[in-house]
Amino acid sequence: MESIARGIRLEGISKVFRHQTKGEVWAVREVSLTVAPGEFVTLLGPSGCGKTTALRMIAGFEQPSAGRVFFGEQDVTALMANQRNIGFVFQNYALFPHLPIFENVAYGLRVRKESEAEITRAVREVMALVGLAGYERQFSNQLSGGEQQRVALARAIVIRPQVLLLDEPLSNLDAKLRVHMRAEIRRLQETLHITTVYVTHDQEEAMALADRIAVMEGGRIVQVGTAEDLYARPANAFVAQFIGRTNLLPARVRGTDASGVEVECNGRPLRLPRDSGPATAGQAVRLAVRPETIELVRAEGGRDDGEVVSRVFLGEKVEYLVRWGELTLHVIAYSPIQRGVLAPGERVGIRLTLDGTRILPGEAS
Ligand SMILES: Nc1ncnc2c1ncn2[C@@H]1O[C@H](COP(=O)(O)OP(=O)(O)OP(=O)(O)O)[C@@H](O)[C@H]1O
Ligand SMILES: [Mg+2]
Repeated sequence: MESIARGIRLEGISKVFRHQTKGEVWAVREVSLTVAPGEFVTLLGPSGCGKTTALRMIAGFEQPSAGRVFFGEQDVTALMANQRNIGFVFQNYALFPHLPIFENVAYGLRVRKESEAEITRAVREVMALVGLAGYERQFSNQLSGGEQQRVALARAIVIRPQVLLLDEPLSNLDAKLRVHMRAEIRRLQETLHITTVYVTHDQEEAMALADRIAVMEGGRIVQVGTAEDLYARPANAFVAQFIGRTNLLPARVRGTDASGVEVECNGRPLRLPRDSGPATAGQAVRLAVRPETIELVRAEGGRDDGEVVSRVFLGEKVEYLVRWGELTLHVIAYSPIQRGVLAPGERVGIRLTLDGTRILPGEAS
C-alpha cells in the first residue's frame, strides 16, 4: 500500500475563541511550522497550550482566525475536513458501537462510494497491517482498549490519507500497552511513509516517536527540533524543564570573549563555551544544568564543597539532593554499585560539565 506523501506548512495560524466569561481566548497564536513529506512531528505541551486546536485546524475541523494551512503547495485553509484527505485518530477513538469492526473501518470508503470489491480488499489490507485480521465481525465493545485503538488507526489510514493526525491516541491505555502501541504506530507510519502530526503531553512519548518535536506553551510554538536538540540546547527555561529534568541556577555573566563566556554561579567563576547560549556582560542569567551532567567527588576540603542532603537508590542510578551554598542541586549518578553511593551528610566536591551547561535568560518565564 503506497501513499502520496505531501508535506504540511502552517503559516502563522491563530485561533481566537470568544468565551462567555473569559472574553477572547487565544488558543493558538501565530503558529508556523513545516512538516516534510513523510516526516513524523509531535506537538508537545502541557494541558491547555493549544495542541488540539492546532491539530483541528490542520484537519479542517476548525477554521483559523488568521493564517494559512498548506498541504504540499496547495492552500487548504478554506477546505472542509472531508475535502482534505486526512486520517484523524481521536483521543477516545470515537468508534461506532452499533457497527461491526469491518464497517467501522470501511466508513470513509463508503462515504467515498468505493465499490464493494475495493472496500473488502482495502479493509482486509489495513486490518492485517494493524494486526487485527479476523476481527471484522466483532463489535467495538468486544475489543480491548489496545484493539480499539488499532481499529481507530485502521479507519484513519484505510482512505490512504495524505496526512495522518493523531490527538493523544494512547492516553486511554495502560503504561505497558502505550509503549507497545507507540512502537506499532511508528512502524506503520514508516511503512506507509505518511506525513504525521501527533499530539501528546507526554515528553517520553514525543521523544520515542517523533522525527522532530514542536514544544508549545500558551498557544505558541516555543521551540522545534529533534529530541536531542531540545534536550541538549533548550531555548528557554520552559523547554529545559518540560523535556527532562534540569537544575536552573541563578548566575551572572562577568564577560565574554571570542572563545568563551565567564559567569559566576554560587560565588564560583565558571568558563563556558561561547555557544552555551546568549550572554552579555553584567547580565543576570540562569544556568540550565542536567542532573546527570553534575559529578560529585569525595570532598577535598574545598571551600565550595556541597553536602549530600538525601539520596534515593534506584538500582541503575542514585538520585541525590545536594546543598551547595544557597542552592539545592538535583544530581543523578549512574552505576552506583560500581562507583559507590554517597551518604547524607557527606561533604562532596561539585563538578559541572561545562559543555553540558546552557545559559538561559535570567527572568522567570
Ligand atoms: N471551543 C472552544 N471555545 C472556547 N475555548 C476553547 C475552545 N476550545 C479550546 N478552548 C480553549 O483554548 C485553549 C487551548 O485548548 P486545547 O484544547 O487546544 O488545548 P490542549 O493543548 O489540547 O489541552 P489538553 O492537553 O488538555 O487536551 C484552552 O484554554 C481551552 O480552554
Ligand atoms: Mg487536547
